[in-house]
Amino acid sequence: MATALRPHESIALPAPRLPRDVSLAEALERRASAREFAGRPLDLATLAGLLWSACGVNRPQNAHRTAPSARNWQEIDVYVVTAEGIHVYDAARQALRPIDSGDHRAATGLQDYVARAPVNLVLVADYARMADASNESRNLYAAMDAAFVAQNVYLYCAAAGLACVVRGLVDREALARVLRLAPAQRVIAAQSVGYPL
Ligand SMILES: Cc1cc2nc3c(=O)[nH]c(=O)nc-3n(C[C@H](O)[C@H](O)[C@H](O)COP(=O)(O)O)c2cc1C
Repeated sequence: MATALRPHESIALPAPRLPRDVSLAEALERRASAREFAGRPLDLATLAGLLWSACGVNRPQNAHRTAPSARNWQEIDVYVVTAEGIHVYDAARQALRPIDSGDHRAATGLQDYVARAPVNLVLVADYARMADASNESRNLYAAMDAAFVAQNVYLYCAAAGLACVVRGLVDREALARVLRLAPAQRVIAAQSVGYPL
């Protein structure tokens, strides 16, 4: 069931769809960038699987995540931009919190396909969570930690039969305004996801 995300509401995500019948070796063999997407939205269980794989809580006993982060800062937030609106992934609650309504997909990148991808993830680092590090360290670790999240997304897409591409070509300042980021939050990268054409 393809589910439209209600733009003004928090959304409790269902149990994540995790393709357990695909081996890591198969996922690595299939991992690739793709820039053409079918128009239909992701079903909610698949979106839940995508986000849990990206940086969900995989050890509830200590709230650690599927992606590592320097000093366990967990400074990367995943914003989810769809035709309906903008949400931010709340990993602790396996939920989506609303940011804005409307179709802002085109603002997540500088390439045409971005506006057509059903889901654009934006990986945002919150420098306030890295307060005791130098600026150089924060830049380095934010980029590294976002890359782990992006690779988890790539591998989930490879396993689940989804098309995906990570993107550095982004107008970060304009997108920060669209996402309503605080001054300490920085857009690191974006990632388009959808069913293949
Ligand atoms: C840090 C980074 C930034 C990238 N930025 C873009 C981008 O802005 N737009 C795009 O279409 N692809 C982007 N890519 C995807 C690369 O072009 C792609 O990974 C590369 O051509 C290799 O293809 P493959 O991923 O299928 O192996 C980026 C990849 C990385 C790792």
